[in-house]
Amino acid sequence: MTEKTAELKKQFEEKIAQVKTTADLEQLKINFLGKKGQITALMQGLKDVANEKKREAGQAINTVKQYIETSLEQKKEDLAKLEWDLKIQATPSYDESLCLHKEQGSFHPITLVQREVEKVFETMGFHIENYDEIVDDYHCFEALNIPKHHPARDMQDTYYLSTGQLLKTHTSAAQNYLMRKYGAPLRAIFPGRCFRNESIDACHENTFFQMEGIMIDENISISNLIYFMKTMLSEVFGQEVEVRLRPGFFPFVEPGFELDIKCLICGGKGCPSCKDSGWLELCPCGMIHPKVLEYGGIDTEKYTGFAFGLGLTRLAMMKYGVKDIRTFNSGNLKAFSQFKNM
Ligand code: PHE
Repeated sequence: MTEKTAELKKQFEEKIAQVKTTADLEQLKINFLGKKGQITALMQGLKDVANEKKREAGQAINTVKQYIETSLEQKKEDLAKLEWDLKIQATPSYDESLCLHKEQGSFHPITLVQREVEKVFETMGFHIENYDEIVDDYHCFEALNIPKHHPARDMQDTYYLSTGQLLKTHTSAAQNYLMRKYGAPLRAIFPGRCFRNESIDACHENTFFQMEGIMIDENISISNLIYFMKTMLSEVFGQEVEVRLRPGFFPFVEPGFELDIKCLICGGKGCPSCKDSGWLELCPCGMIHPKVLEYGGIDTEKYTGFAFGLGLTRLAMMKYGVKDIRTFNSGNLKAFSQFKNM
């Protein structure tokens, strides 16, 4: 019997070496392991083996059976890999016929408005900075005079990560970093995506863009702040726009303001885009709180400064007459196609 099993093993090895496709492999499997296959035939032959040799013969058959099974499995994997490689080689690296839209793309309206604002501030001596989207509690809150358990934290429904870090709720999160990096005097703007766990409607999104600006120097006052805000808005809109300044509370500015713009969609009559008030909060701002300057390592005897957090998404709504803030994250190509060539 051991001779027979050795012979069978040899036969199998010759055959498997010739296998080229999974169909061949299936056939080989049937020939050797199937109900009418060679292994079954050997098993049936066991009844003719002398009793004292039965055990040894049975083991020999089992060993060759296992060998055939694992060889077939291995070959199956090798073939699958080979067939996959051939398929990849046969696929062109890109298929031009798949391109359904041969249309020219466009910049996103927020990118457009961001670039305009950047241009205006650059000509006024501000430099443009970048900052992370994942930040720590210190930069987003503590360094901005918002200690733990401060009620102002409720104003910003924060997305926390399991690492203890968070998605930045406002671009102000970069203030401390930039003060530490450059010191005073400083003029910088820093655009960025912000995240808040808000319920979404025509004028609220959980993901939106802001443009933060800070200016720190000797003798900076509220009139500098108002001047820069007005210049920026009239440049971006290409016309005088009606604004109003109201007191606003933010722990990192003192005094703090809300700068509202008259809704350009309804002309101030009231519509869903401005929550029927006729005005839209566009740019909270204020004089940087001395504590925040101190945390940033700035000499408060010598320097003062202002900061603003322009709502870039809202600015894009007003500038381009986009009625619903949700359009910006919708990926609706039809809505964006009108920004071609801009
Ligand atoms: N970071 C504030 C917010 O997003 C806005 C702000 C920026 C207010 C700078 C004052 C000064 O709510």
